[in-house]
Amino acid sequence: MKKAAFFGIFILALTFVACNSGTGSSKVSSNSSSPFAAEVDSLLSIMTLEEKIGQMNQYNGFWNVTGPVPAGDEAANKKYDHLKKGWVGSMLNVRGVENVRAVQKIAVEESRLGIPLIIGFDAIHGYKTLSPIPLAESASWDMEAIKRSAEVSAAESAASGINWTFAPMVDIGRDPRWGRVMEGAGEDPYLGSKIAIARVKGFQGDDLSDPFTIAACTKHFAGYGFAEGGKDYNTADFGTSTLYNMVLPPFKATVDADVKTFMNSFNVLNGIPATGDEFLQREILKGRWNFQGFVVSDWGSIGEMIPHGYAEDGKHAAELAANAGSDMDMESYLYVEHLAELVREGKVDEAYINDAARRILTVKYELGLFEDPYKYCDEAREKATIGKAAHQEAVLDMAKKSIVLLKNENKLLPLKKSGQRIAVIGQFANDKNSPLGSWRIAADDNTAVSLMEGMAAYPDNRLTYALGAQVSVGPTSFVMETKINEDDTSGFAEAIRVARAADVVIMNLGEVGWQSGEGRSRANIDLPGVQQELLEAVYKVNKNIVLVLQSGRPLALPWADENIPAIVQAWQLGTQSGNAIAQVLYGDYNPSGKMPMTTPRDKGQIPLYYNHKSTGRPTIPAPNLVFWQHYMDESNDPLYPFGHGLSYTEFKYDGLEVNANGDGSYKVSFTLTNSGAVKGKEVAQLYIQDVTASVTRPVRELKGFELVELEPGASKEIIFNISDAELGFYNNEGEFIVEDGLFRVFVGGSSATQYSTEFAR
Ligand code: NOJ
Repeated sequence: MKKAAFFGIFILALTFVACNSGTGSSKVSSNSSSPFAAEVDSLLSIMTLEEKIGQMNQYNGFWNVTGPVPAGDEAANKKYDHLKKGWVGSMLNVRGVENVRAVQKIAVEESRLGIPLIIGFDAIHGYKTLSPIPLAESASWDMEAIKRSAEVSAAESAASGINWTFAPMVDIGRDPRWGRVMEGAGEDPYLGSKIAIARVKGFQGDDLSDPFTIAACTKHFAGYGFAEGGKDYNTADFGTSTLYNMVLPPFKATVDADVKTFMNSFNVLNGIPATGDEFLQREILKGRWNFQGFVVSDWGSIGEMIPHGYAEDGKHAAELAANAGSDMDMESYLYVEHLAELVREGKVDEAYINDAARRILTVKYELGLFEDPYKYCDEAREKATIGKAAHQEAVLDMAKKSIVLLKNENKLLPLKKSGQRIAVIGQFANDKNSPLGSWRIAADDNTAVSLMEGMAAYPDNRLTYALGAQVSVGPTSFVMETKINEDDTSGFAEAIRVARAADVVIMNLGEVGWQSGEGRSRANIDLPGVQQELLEAVYKVNKNIVLVLQSGRPLALPWADENIPAIVQAWQLGTQSGNAIAQVLYGDYNPSGKMPMTTPRDKGQIPLYYNHKSTGRPTIPAPNLVFWQHYMDESNDPLYPFGHGLSYTEFKYDGLEVNANGDGSYKVSFTLTNSGAVKGKEVAQLYIQDVTASVTRPVRELKGFELVELEPGASKEIIFNISDAELGFYNNEGEFIVEDGLFRVFVGGSSATQYSTEFAR
């Protein structure tokens, strides 16, 4: 610890060094308003060019940091050597107090300046205790619960040595084939912005130096969710109106919420790889939005500009990325390799290096790492925090709130608590792994509560189980290994037998946890394997079916919607999955989730999203007419619209009015009544259409929502005050404008509501 002690004094002394290295260029934009500006500038003034570039270098910690570096492992030796030289600013995927301490010790005690590392990790929906996947959490429309979930994630990560998470992902997801819709907040920029803010606040808290908070990272900047064909890593191509109004708002919302870091993205947008996109990173993010944090590349995305056909070689890629404003290189090795030479050759302005290093060092100061580089390394705290009861309660609460009741004919749900013969069918009912999803790096295998375990809490019914069919993906995060015969129908007979003898059948079908997430796009969004056939075979002998869908995306199941009386969207709900589903099925929790993405009837309708433009030939309800916007073989309607979700009670909307407040804003008011028999929660939604504008506007856009709980028979007056922020839009120059004219206002329990009025601005 000799050097660590010295290090503290050294830094203290530095604060008195009156030296401002400055950026030396008007093109860079980190400012000196940070409370740590003097310390950062002092430090920068004594750093060599290589050490500053070192701060911009991030390595994956794949080798055994607690022991000797394996002999002959060249890559590991190189990383170790670079750490000692002070040429590494950050590591990712080093976790656990012991490991983090070991790696931090090299940086702090063996390098010349002893600058601590910032330790990054994908704590996407939890660390060891997992919340539902982010898309599922988004279905709660409950910002407090989402914030709490991020707090749990931050607390467990921080207790295990991590101080930076690569979340939230705020990419708009309109294409359910894209495997990463599971990681986002769905298709809507308004809801997505609110959720992004809740997540950033949950991770970062009010004080970043609090040892239970961590820095957040808004990703992927930008356009990643628009991968053509829903194929991960594919090209994205969309116009300026979509960029400014759909893609950018959730990113901007997190800048306003003081997010500390951004990650750029793998995709090309309009021919420019996002990693090398100066317009996105320097002009918009660091310029117009005045973002003061730093931008990390996505994994290897600097090097990927070569296969994209944008950079000639590694050196050229480093030049393009640094000039475009990518501050930190995640695992391309190209900054550390080429940037110093590029600066000497005058191809990269040293001001850019200073700017990037300043941004990174500032976040490290804000985290308190200079005060105590080992502040996240406390074994006792690690033990006491991870998996604790309060965290289990929080993720159970989040899981219940994430469930969406898609259909419930003849009040088949909730289930009676006794005297019932219940058959549970399907692989997922006994699966303790799939509910963890695919972003579950730190979670132990098979640690989710399965549905069967959750159902066991209700012992007064007779429960039987049959596997029926199996889905064959797994078992690792890297390999799509086929384990079993997907076409095997040999389990059908037993499933039919138990279904025949039951009063109610619960069919727990869907996708394996590894079938969504990064690199896990699907061309089909139906039930994998022979599960559809199984569903139809069971239906022939017992029609009282509750279909519990476990998936990382909306699935297009029109047959089920037409025939199965009750359908529950149960996503991948994390550690407490089975308890949450059972409590909803038995009515101990009345579901209130609403779909954050449109569910298509057929994959051929994709992209299908509620806030689309009208076209010159909007759909008319006359299927025999040809020259209107429609398909000849499928309806234009979704299976379930954005915002859809039922409850065990019913809600009524009436008394809708819009009145001018006299200050340029308008008051939208209406009465919401619980007209059913049990207490329940409703997400009352407000949509607005700007009927005619200088750039055409969507047919409707979400502009407000409120989660309201009402006793049976109770009513509440709901008020939304709408002003320019809700009535305006971005023109094609990226300016926010508001235009006079006619506005339509819709309120209701989903985006398909027809309850509306209008007013003129
Ligand atoms: C690649 C993913 O796109 C990104 O979201 C993630 O944070 C990094 N890998 C680090 O694991």
